[in-house]
Amino acid sequence: MIIDILTTFPWMIEPIIESSILKIASEKEIVVFNVIDIREYSKNKHKNTDDAPFGGGEGMIMSPQPLFDTIIDVQDGLEKIIFPTPDGIIFDQVMAKKLSNEKHLVFVCGHYKGIDQRVRDNFKMEEISIGDFVLTGGEIPTLAMVDSIVRLIPGVINNIKSAESDSFSQPLLDCPWYTRPDSYEGNKVPEVLLGGNHKKIDEWRQSKREEKTKKLRPDLWKKYIEMEYISQDNTKEQEFKINKKSN
Ligand code: ADE
Repeated sequence: MIIDILTTFPWMIEPIIESSILKIASEKEIVVFNVIDIREYSKNKHKNTDDAPFGGGEGMIMSPQPLFDTIIDVQDGLEKIIFPTPDGIIFDQVMAKKLSNEKHLVFVCGHYKGIDQRVRDNFKMEEISIGDFVLTGGEIPTLAMVDSIVRLIPGVINNIKSAESDSFSQPLLDCPWYTRPDSYEGNKVPEVLLGGNHKKIDEWRQSKREEKTKKLRPDLWKKYIEMEYISQDNTKEQEFKINKKSN
């Protein structure tokens, strides 16, 4: 996969793609990262990339010319362009999974108050938000999305089973996990995990996932109950099971 990150702050991106999972993906030649400085495409004599908004108002708007030229330069006909913005659709694990199958992703990092609307109108872009809060620019949302996408590309993580059990890869939040020692400052690991009975361990983990989801994410819990309902035969017994779960 090729991942192009178009930014006026390349120094924010570089340390992150040179560490952890992103570095592994690049060393294994599974992903090629290109960090592209939009400023270098500016035809303005001061290399400016922004200007005041027409009609007045606070803040600066990123100008069309440097953005148009940078995007056109990276296009190869296979690209999917992503514009991180708080007014986009909310990013989730399903999107991350879908995007992990693409050949070429282009992230356009906006800054200041926003980017000239003509950029959004002229290029086919997925406008994506990482949540209902506002960050100063697109760099942090881009890195968050890139991290979650890259770790799902086959071959990047050695233990793909671990990624599959993540919260959101399945419809429930993840269960608690423990490692050695079995007692730390008087805090003991649940007995069932030490017994070696894998059926019991799986049941315990599932019950913890359900307990946690029900408590912290009633929206996900509702979806889960509905999914279970659809995927099972609509018999009295199943109805009983569902009623019991939703109590
Ligand atoms: N840019 C600024 N805030 C953002 C958000 N919440 N998601 C994506 N891009 C952003």
